[in-house]
Amino acid sequence: MDLLDAAGAVLDANWTGRYTRPSQALYPHQWSWDSAFIAVGRAWYDAERARLELETLFEAQWATGMVPSIVFDPAAPADAYFPGPDVWQAERSPAAPRGRATSGITQPPMHARAALEVHRHAPPDQRAASLAWLERLYPRLVAQQRYLATARDPRGTGLAAIVHPWESGLDDSPAWDRDFDRIAVPPGALPPYRRRDLDRAPAADRPTDADYDRFLYLLTLARAVDYDDAQVVGSAPFLIVDPLFNAIWLWSEHALAEIAGLVGADPAPHRAAARHIHDGLVRELWVERRARFCAWDLRRDQREPEDTIVSFGPLLDPDLPPPIVAAICRELESPSFHPRRGGVRYLVPTYDERAADFDPDRYWRGPVWLNTNWLLWHGLRQHGRTDLADEIVASSVELVRRSGFREYFDPLDGSGHGSDRFSWSAALFIDMVQASRDSAGPALR
Ligand code: SER
Repeated sequence: MDLLDAAGAVLDANWTGRYTRPSQALYPHQWSWDSAFIAVGRAWYDAERARLELETLFEAQWATGMVPSIVFDPAAPADAYFPGPDVWQAERSPAAPRGRATSGITQPPMHARAALEVHRHAPPDQRAASLAWLERLYPRLVAQQRYLATARDPRGTGLAAIVHPWESGLDDSPAWDRDFDRIAVPPGALPPYRRRDLDRAPAADRPTDADYDRFLYLLTLARAVDYDDAQVVGSAPFLIVDPLFNAIWLWSEHALAEIAGLVGADPAPHRAAARHIHDGLVRELWVERRARFCAWDLRRDQREPEDTIVSFGPLLDPDLPPPIVAAICRELESPSFHPRRGGVRYLVPTYDERAADFDPDRYWRGPVWLNTNWLLWHGLRQHGRTDLADEIVASSVELVRRSGFREYFDPLDGSGHGSDRFSWSAALFIDMVQASRDSAGPALR
């Protein structure tokens, strides 16, 4: 089977009727940023389902505007995933949707950007339906973006803070090790629990038990204040400003400006909001002496030195000053991240390959992921580095050809890890291959 057809078959097998599971066994519910990536890829061949994917997610949006990281599927077996709705108890918050079980935290706001991409790919006979869909979604996307600006910016810097590593989407990234690892879980704070992920993926590929205890402990703290934003932001022991999360937020704000133009709304407030995030990124997170964007721990007021993929996220900012773009590209092409110079063979590892605790197989602590590759590919193209962007696409294609649509890949040998038949790997493969063909990019089959 052609790889594009195989990618479509993965998405179709994971389709539930209203949304796409990230994978059948490991992630049997709807995940927020997964759905955004999935909609982008699916839009190339099934625009209707791509639209329904995002609409289904936004049905579970909270009254605050927050889009929850997980929307639980009542059709999935109760023991299919941990922590499930009984642990989250999102209904404790008056802002949670009635009749839909969700988590109580959010994920990177990829959705306005995804909605714009889906609309761009609508076939000619669906343009009107697509525009009507965009009109319906627009106020919800605005509310999602505004939630971050109001509820998550305690210092008024223009940047949004995350209150749990799960909100970053890069759960156990070394980017916040120093902050996360110092969180001490008090004895007896957690009832005994059983990780379900370890039934479905090797322990060496997944976050450690100590990390899981901290993940759950942070969940219980947010739950104890009924997910009240002011209280969570005011007291969470984990309060991080992540460059990648904020860059995605900014990128979506630019997408909202374009969507506003399409639906007859005013793009100006979105351009102003994007400028505000841009100013915050450059002023607060760019650390000149390291020539790098750093995660910022608001609790300790520290910029973290770890050299991880989150530092490259601001390439998504179209207004990033050229000297900063050049510095990021130098790092991306350095022995830490690039096959020509380092030991890695595949682009782009999620952590400095030369770091002592680089782990080529464990979740976000080294492996290549296709969503971060996809985000960098967009960022590099927008800054004219199509050479490096094409290399990332070629590497992504090679990894899929070698190991299939795995959740993540070992950058040293290309082996596949985590879940198999993983939806966003399939979806973003479709998008990179189709878009590169359209622009006469690298040979892809
Ligand atoms: N990414 C987390 C997990 O692995 C939850 O969102 O389960």
